[in-house]
Amino acid sequence: MADTQTTAENVLRDPSRLPRVPEPAAMVIFGASGDLTSRKLVPALYDLAASRRLPMEFAVVGLSRTELGHEEFRARLREGLEENRPGRISEDVWESFSRGIFYLAGDSKDPETYTELREFLQKLDTQRGTGGNRIFYLSSSPSLFPAIVERLGEAGLNEGEGVGYSRLVVEKPFGRDLESARELNGDIKRYFRERQIYRIDHYLGKETVQNILALRFSNGIFEPVWNQNYVDHVQITVAESDGVGDRGAFYEEAGTLRDILQNHMMQVLCLTAMEPPVAFDADSVREEKVKVLKAVRRIPEAEVDGSAVRGQYGEGWVWGGKVPGYRQEAAVSAESSTETYAALKLFVDNWRWAGVPFYVRSGKRLPKKATEIAIQFKKTPHTPFAGAETRGLEPNTLVIRVQPEEGVSLKIGAKVPGAGFEVSSVNMDLLYGTAFLEEAPDAYQRLLLDLMLGDPTLFIRSDEAEGAWSILDPVMRSWSENGGEIATYPAGDWGPQEADELLADDGREWRRP
Ligand code: BG6
Repeated sequence: MADTQTTAENVLRDPSRLPRVPEPAAMVIFGASGDLTSRKLVPALYDLAASRRLPMEFAVVGLSRTELGHEEFRARLREGLEENRPGRISEDVWESFSRGIFYLAGDSKDPETYTELREFLQKLDTQRGTGGNRIFYLSSSPSLFPAIVERLGEAGLNEGEGVGYSRLVVEKPFGRDLESARELNGDIKRYFRERQIYRIDHYLGKETVQNILALRFSNGIFEPVWNQNYVDHVQITVAESDGVGDRGAFYEEAGTLRDILQNHMMQVLCLTAMEPPVAFDADSVREEKVKVLKAVRRIPEAEVDGSAVRGQYGEGWVWGGKVPGYRQEAAVSAESSTETYAALKLFVDNWRWAGVPFYVRSGKRLPKKATEIAIQFKKTPHTPFAGAETRGLEPNTLVIRVQPEEGVSLKIGAKVPGAGFEVSSVNMDLLYGTAFLEEAPDAYQRLLLDLMLGDPTLFIRSDEAEGAWSILDPVMRSWSENGGEIATYPAGDWGPQEADELLADDGREWRRP
């Protein structure tokens, strides 16, 4: 088995500039009839094909229980592509890309399926030249992950064919809590080595998330003030205006803590708080992230109420339209106590961050979709401009807007034009869209390319997944023991009042992104 672990020396550069074309390979997608395949994975692979970064000898094999023929499967994917890349499909590219798409119907628990799969992949090696390289993408129901991994191992598919490689991609959620994540890691590692495992978190594929590293480590001016001497507190927000839509059944099992906090937000927190890595390779970057996760102070179960708030949206108004409450959504229990909003106050107990609160919050049915990191600096020690002349002056805040309106802004004090000496805050703004005049690749496009190139820098290592769970475990335990008591907020509001109180108790308030 060969698995080239390339270094990610280019993590800070725009991948669209790089002539990186991976080796031939076959990608098997488990749970292929699910919506991730048509909404995200295939459009991202199509984009790679269109930009000539997908090798000609590439194949996608969809696998799930639904009975479908190759042509039917292709037609479904084509529909998904039209919805997700409207007006951007080239018939020539689709024609050659879709010739490499296949479908196998099968029960992923049945060993027979894997005998067939293995033969099919060998046929592809001969007919399409996929070179013995295999990628197994787990996007089925998470409860099936252990069985699939075991069957792959028993069928010998955990090793590439001949000189080829075999890689395993695991979609989130990676477990339900620390214990189940450890079990899943244990199950997977019986058959796959860590360097073959790619735990995916699409936030790491976002250009603006990677830009946190670029901003911090390619500029000399930020690091000297990026610490408890200068930073008053940090706010990380992942807000969505959508509700749970048709994902009620999934959400009932997950809730915001598992769906967003454990993965996307912990990753963003790590990138914001980590020390400079010695190099941009998988181990150096992930080592530093793990150190942050270790340094996050665990909230004792008995003190969760003072550091964590949960809420659930009731009916309300979003973008001028009336929307139902969470309990009225399809497949949601009328007595559900699942949180659709969560806010935590965390501390990173290390030399750099001692005493600096990191307030993190995420919710559905908030007024707008906005993901941002705000570093609020301390006030100036003294202002020579007295009283009324500084009414509009706020402390410096650096805001990294992950989405939308991707960019960075720095709030600074400036003199208001006029005869007096009034000082007020204004924003210095960088908008990526206008600065680079280039469209950023979609997150999955970036991650699938890295996966094929064998670069795991932007994927989650086993100790990261477990570290993130161990921070949230006491909160989840406390919430489940306290049962159905959950604060509500009207859809279209910025979360429950208790969340405001969490900051008000510290003399602070949430930003309005
Ligand atoms: C997914 C969650 O991981 O991320 C969804 O399961 C959420 O509930 C989505 O809506 C948000 O992703 P993005 O890229 O739109 O911020």
